[in-house]
Amino acid sequence: MTKLRVAVSGVGSLGQHHARIAAASERTELVAVVDPSEVRGREIAEKFGTSWAASLVEVLPRVDAVQIAAPTGFHHAIGLQVLDAGKHVIMEKPLAASLVEGEALLKALAQARAANPNLVAAVGHLERFNPAVQALRRLGFKPRFAEAIRVSPFPMRSMEVDVIMDVMIHDLDLLLALWGKPVISVEAVGVPVLTKYADLVNARLKFEGGGFATVTASRVARKKERTLRAFGENAYASLDFAAQKLEILRLVESPEGPQVLPEVVDIVEGEPLKLELEAFYAACQSEAGDTVPWPDAFEAMRVADQVQKAVAKSLEELL
Ligand SMILES: NC(=O)c1ccc[n+]([C@@H]2O[C@H](COP(=O)([O-])OP(=O)(O)OC[C@H]3O[C@@H](n4cnc5c(N)ncnc54)[C@H](O)[C@@H]3O)[C@@H](O)[C@H]2O)c1
Repeated sequence: MTKLRVAVSGVGSLGQHHARIAAASERTELVAVVDPSEVRGREIAEKFGTSWAASLVEVLPRVDAVQIAAPTGFHHAIGLQVLDAGKHVIMEKPLAASLVEGEALLKALAQARAANPNLVAAVGHLERFNPAVQALRRLGFKPRFAEAIRVSPFPMRSMEVDVIMDVMIHDLDLLLALWGKPVISVEAVGVPVLTKYADLVNARLKFEGGGFATVTASRVARKKERTLRAFGENAYASLDFAAQKLEILRLVESPEGPQVLPEVVDIVEGEPLKLELEAFYAACQSEAGDTVPWPDAFEAMRVADQVQKAVAKSLEELL
């Protein structure tokens, strides 16, 4: 099979892993890494046996697809550039820095798809590729209530965005995917602690057709925790993202009467980013590749925007 020629735009903390995976994949040829920082760009290019470019313009004619891992504020401009060139694209999360920019990207995608209906546009919501999440979704687990917790010590980065767009967005996307229904109301509280943006947020979501979720995201915690507990009909799921573990407890009838028994869930561990990118490459090569579509990521942004508005309102009351 002809290799997919890819470039990675932005090779910072996450982009270096995009470059590592693209360089190692049997499906791809890493044509270049693009980064305005020459020192960083050359360092990563050398490490993964490719070339560095300061700008995407010179690279675009030589690639089939671009992996965008530049800071969120650049997603809109780089995304438009890639679509304009008619290339496949995977954008890191969140899709864009604002709803206005997200809408503009969706519009540009519709135009690009009018010229090429097979154009792939994915978003890096990598928790969907976490093997424990995939196992939960394979079971067809339908939650009625869920509690998502994603907290960590202060990262000393991403200080230009709040914890909602940076961290909580992972769970918002995941919950929307699990429910398969839109969020119809949002309540939230949050506070800035170490930055001028909300560093700690708790939100309560109501889904169409019933069902609630509480979502907590914090970057001012003592220890890291990334978990999801979901409660469905006669069953309870407990998922640990980092450990890639899933436990299901189900109410079953037995000769001794009803019992709640644990179910063994087979999980083959894997690197979510690698699974996500391999699925993207496969989709670009017209094979079945389960990517996260841009409209899904926009929906997560829309809910994140509602959480931001609710937090702003709660802060007005506090101050
Ligand atoms: N999916 C995830 O779990 C996950 C995790 C971390 C970060 N991210 C996302 O990845 C993106 C990058 O985050 P990061 O933590 O790697 O940031 P970072 O600051 O560590 O790295 C960003 C890199 O992009 C480069 N850059 C700046 N402007 C650029 C431009 N116009 N074009 C190309 N490159 C440019 C910078 O020089 C830097 O090397 C963000 O959108 C973030 O939300 C996603």
